[in-house]
Amino acid sequence: APAQPLQGKHVLITAGPTRESLDPVRFISNHSSGKMGFAIAQQARAMGAQVSLVAGPVALATPPGVNRINVETAEQMLEAVMSITPECDIFIATAAVADYRAADVAENKIKKNADELTLTFTKNPDILKAVANLPSPPFCVGFAAESQNVEAYAKRKLTEKKLDMIAANDITLAGLGFNSDANALQLFWPEGSRNLSPQPKTDLAIELLNVVIERYQHKTTH
Ligand code: PMT
Repeated sequence: APAQPLQGKHVLITAGPTRESLDPVRFISNHSSGKMGFAIAQQARAMGAQVSLVAGPVALATPPGVNRINVETAEQMLEAVMSITPECDIFIATAAVADYRAADVAENKIKKNADELTLTFTKNPDILKAVANLPSPPFCVGFAAESQNVEAYAKRKLTEKKLDMIAANDITLAGLGFNSDANALQLFWPEGSRNLSPQPKTDLAIELLNVVIERYQHKTTH
């Protein structure tokens, strides 16, 4: 049987985009497919964890043995995550959460009359920051999709959100990141870093989890 280093641990993962309505027929969202988060969910389960997967709207099958909670908006994702967080040991936020939602969702379909349309947006809650700043937070791993200054921006998110680790992906690299089957990650934690080379997301998930387990054990025994 494969090693079960996450036996007895509850791992919570967010995946996919969120979708924020503008009116009854339109929304804003992004290109996240959910593949990165679903791969981590599958491999955490294979390593023996109890796995909860809070997923935005994606077209992926639920990995066997994984408890999936479907949500659409950032606010719904926050609520689902907060209800599970008290029982979880490790939180891995791969979701590409919409930073803003429409200030007012139009009750009826927005009509195309004027030549210009201005919409006002309100900032969404930061789910990962909310979890990482709880009085006794789980081990928190954030993701950062960056198109420039990858290391500096990722390290800033690590510090600002008070995370245990951040996994940065450079989204300018062809064939990696959003909506592809492969990715590469630069991991940073307060005392160190590691590069995980370009490879299928399913393999990358194992390498990521191995580092997470190492740092989690370090944190819980020091
Ligand atoms: O889904 P795939 O197609 O497989 O693509 C994977 C991915 C590219 C989406 C993934 O690898 C990735 O990088 N996800 C993070 C995307 C991102 O840009 O996150 P961010 O920089 O907006 O946020 C940083 C961290 O805070 C993330 O862990 C995010 O989940 C979290 N966050 C952000 C905003 C918010 N309101 N709530 C959050 O929890």
